[in-house]
Amino acid sequence: MNRILVLTGGGDCPGLNAVIRAIVKRASQEKDYEIVGSIESFNGVLKDPAEVIILDEQSVAGILVKGGTIIGTTNKGGPFAYPVRNNDGTWGTLDRSDEMIRRLQYMGITGVINIGGDGSLRISKALADKGLNIINVPKTIDNDLSSTDYTFGFQTAVQIATEAVDKLVTTAASHNRIFILEVMGRDAGWIALNSAIAGGADVCVIPEIPYDIENIKQKIETRYSKGRGFCIIVVAEGAKNKDGKRIGAVSNEVGYENFMLGGIGWSLKQELITAGVEHDIRVTLLGHLQRGGTPIAYDRVLACEFGVAAFELALVGKWGNMVAYRHPDVIAVPFEEALREPHLVSPDSRLVRTAKGLGIEFGD
Ligand code: F6P
Repeated sequence: MNRILVLTGGGDCPGLNAVIRAIVKRASQEKDYEIVGSIESFNGVLKDPAEVIILDEQSVAGILVKGGTIIGTTNKGGPFAYPVRNNDGTWGTLDRSDEMIRRLQYMGITGVINIGGDGSLRISKALADKGLNIINVPKTIDNDLSSTDYTFGFQTAVQIATEAVDKLVTTAASHNRIFILEVMGRDAGWIALNSAIAGGADVCVIPEIPYDIENIKQKIETRYSKGRGFCIIVVAEGAKNKDGKRIGAVSNEVGYENFMLGGIGWSLKQELITAGVEHDIRVTLLGHLQRGGTPIAYDRVLACEFGVAAFELALVGKWGNMVAYRHPDVIAVPFEEALREPHLVSPDSRLVRTAKGLGIEFGD
């Protein structure tokens, strides 16, 4: 009997359930394959008693369209840095990776499919280096993984951000206001750039192109030059001005290592006021709305392709690879290559040139 463990790690994103379902459905066509889900990423395996469930066709029925993940996820800790409470009450971390591999052997797991972003990919690479049979599926709304044209979840986030721009346009126009929409994406400006183009925004501020507030101010004044006017600014959470400071906070949640980005929208508003902009400014922070709800059709299709491809890699024992979409194919990319560099917006790219051709100001 081959037993494949499936888990979802890192922040959730629309399409996770579609991948799980695709793996289960494809596996059901093979003899001697069982799919097991670990609850809350690798934590399910490390808990006592273990929290794992059999995933069969019945348990994945109807989940194609569901947001989130039926097996839970976490972006804290992991087998190499498992949070443990010290005797003095403070928190530390423990490397439980070897123990986890032993637990997987004991459970009869013959291979693992890890559905996650860059953090999950790093964990998978380290586990593969220890000899674990593991394959990754790239998920993230940020679209910041290289080697794949798109990660699933991204297009849904762009759709949600675009709908937010559409809504802000009507209220901004009615009140002659400036609206700043802060979107997610970490250090990548993909969501901001795509939704700014799709929604017809006037200004797009992304991490890859540091802004000068004076240039944004000038664009605003042009928008108001005929007396009445309004202005839509889409800003990526990781954006920074020419001084290069990201806005956010260090988290005090146990095991949470990421810098918590957020607040650039408010800081941009303050900078505009300081620069002398006198029009009304309102800030909208879209936040986790971008990660919730049902995946759009594009992401469902991509998730299904990834799920089937990941299982088929397991079937032929091509461990140590991440499935990736390279139009028009789904290919296998070795972990080292997939991890080599983040996928960021190039300031000289066609998409940025398109945006500039449409008159969108980046502040550079
Ligand atoms: O990586 C996905 C993402 O949604 C980022 O865009 C964002 O910065 C981060 O996760 C938020 O993480 P959390 O869910 O821990 O607040």
